[in-house]
Amino acid sequence: MPKKRKSSHKKKQILVLHGPNLNMLGKREKKIYGKVSLEKINSDLKSLAEELGVELKFKQSNIEGELVNFIHDAAKNKTAGILINPAAYTHTSVAIRDALLAAKLPAVEVHLSNIYQREEFRHKSLTAPACVGQVTGFGKMSYLLGLMALVNRI
Ligand code: DQA
Repeated sequence: MPKKRKSSHKKKQILVLHGPNLNMLGKREKKIYGKVSLEKINSDLKSLAEELGVELKFKQSNIEGELVNFIHDAAKNKTAGILINPAAYTHTSVAIRDALLAAKLPAVEVHLSNIYQREEFRHKSLTAPACVGQVTGFGKMSYLLGLMALVNRI
């Protein structure tokens, strides 16, 4: 008799990576980012992932090198893709961009706000060229749309 495998083992794993200050969502700059908390975003992503038949692993860090390590770990663990909001590091981090390129995993970059409508220093994303695409400006929906697009890719 072949051993029954838990169905979750067959599911593709996606890393959801949140950058600095996103742990403050719901409390920080509500006019820009809204009232939604990171926990709510994660739980809505989890529900969508169930519908899409994928499994999510959530990580948040305020530390650049830690985000780099999470991306390396994802590559080692045969993660299928990365949904990332690099937050402020979007505009500054050569290290996160290089980690995404090194990992060679399909990644989708998301932003709650429309970074192109805001200060000029936010118009440039160093990380987006290392991603399949970018969803920006739809609040929590950016994450949900990003997940759908990523699952379609993997
Ligand atoms: C952000 C946009 C970034 O410019 C900013 O630094 C953030 C959040 C967004 O989701 O809109 O922290 O990534």
